[in-house]
Amino acid sequence: MESVPQRKTILSGMQPSGELTIGHIAGALRNWVRLQTEFDSLFCVVDQHAITARQVPADLRRRTLDLAAMYIAAGVEPEKSVIFIQSTVPEHSQLAWVLTCLTGMGECSRMTQFKDKSERHSDNINVGLFTYPILMAADILLYNADLVPVGEDQKQHLELARNLAERFNHHYSPTFTVPDPFIPEVGGRIMSLQEPERKMSKSDPNRNASIFLTDTDDQIRTKIRRAVTDSGSEIRYDETGRPGISNLMSLLNVATGQSFAEIESSFANVTGYASFKEAVGEALVSYIAPIRDRFLEIRADEERLRSILRDGAEAARGRARKTLRKVYKKTGFVDLTEK
Ligand code: TYM
Repeated sequence: MESVPQRKTILSGMQPSGELTIGHIAGALRNWVRLQTEFDSLFCVVDQHAITARQVPADLRRRTLDLAAMYIAAGVEPEKSVIFIQSTVPEHSQLAWVLTCLTGMGECSRMTQFKDKSERHSDNINVGLFTYPILMAADILLYNADLVPVGEDQKQHLELARNLAERFNHHYSPTFTVPDPFIPEVGGRIMSLQEPERKMSKSDPNRNASIFLTDTDDQIRTKIRRAVTDSGSEIRYDETGRPGISNLMSLLNVATGQSFAEIESSFANVTGYASFKEAVGEALVSYIAPIRDRFLEIRADEERLRSILRDGAEAARGRARKTLRKVYKKTGFVDLTEK
C-alpha cells in the first residue's frame, strides 16, 4: 500500500487578555485561516498565559469565549481546525514543568517581552510572567508543530521553543519536532496609530492608537483620519523614514491584498494624505465589518461555541496525552499502567 504523506502541523494561540486589534489579524489570524487548508491545524485560547496579569475571573471567562468566537468569525473553521482552550488540556502545564527544569534562568531573563512587561507592571512581577515562554514552548512542542504562525514580537519566544526541543532531544532521545516561526512579510508588526514607532497593542491606554475588531465603522474611519503621519505628502513605503504612512500602507495591504507598488502607483498623483487615509479607512471598514457581524452571530449561540470547544479539547487531549506519556517515560517517571 502506498503511504499517504502526513500533513505538517501548525499551532498558534492568543491571550484572552483584551480585545483583539487589527494587528492580531495582520500578524497571525489571517495566516491561520490561509494555512488551515494545507496543514493539520490547532489553535488555542491561552487562558493560562493570561493570568500572568491580574484578571477578573468573570471577565476572563467571557473573554476566553469571545476570543474563540473571534477565531471562527475571522475564518478559522471548526471542521478543518482544532479550536480549544489551553486550560482544558492539562498536559500543557504538565509538559511545561518538565521543560522548566531544562531552562536556564538566563534564558528567561533575556526575553524582551518579560523585561517590557515587568517594567509596565512593576506591582505584579510574578514568576509566571518570567516562565511564560516555557508554557508557550509546551503549547507548541506537545503537538509537534512544524510551523507556528505568529507576529514578529513572538520570534524570541519561538527561539526558546526551538532550543528546548533540541535540548530535550539531545539529552534523552529524538522526541520533539523543532518548530519554525511563520511571520508574514507584511503585517508582522503593525504599529500604533498614534506613535508609529511602537507596536499596536490591545493594552495601549490611548484607544485611538489601535483599531479593535469590535470598533464601529465610524470609529475606524475617525481613528485612521487622526492617525499620526509623517512630514511630506507622498505615499511611499519607507518603514524607517516614514513609519506612519508605511504602517497605513501595511493596513491597506492587509485589508485589500494590494502590494506596496500597486498602492504607490494608484496614489502617485495625489498630494496630501487625506484621500489616502479615506481609502485606508474605507478598506478597513469593509474588511472588519463582516468579521464583527459574524462574531456577534457566533457569540449569540454559546451552546454551539461550547460544543466546538469541547470537541476541540477532546481532539487536542488525545494527541497531547501521547506526547506527554513519551516525555514522562523518557524523563524517568514511573508508569503504573505498565505491568
Ligand atoms: P498575543 O496574545 O500577544 O498575540 C497574539 C498574536 O497576535 C500577534 N500580534 C501582532 N502581530 C502584528 N502586529 C501587532 N501589532 C500584533 N499584536 C499582536 C502576536 O505576534 C501573536 O502572534 N505568547 C503569545 C501567545 C501564545 C502562543 C502560544 C502563540 C501562547 N502560546 C503558542 C503561538 C504558539 C502572545 O502573547 O500573543
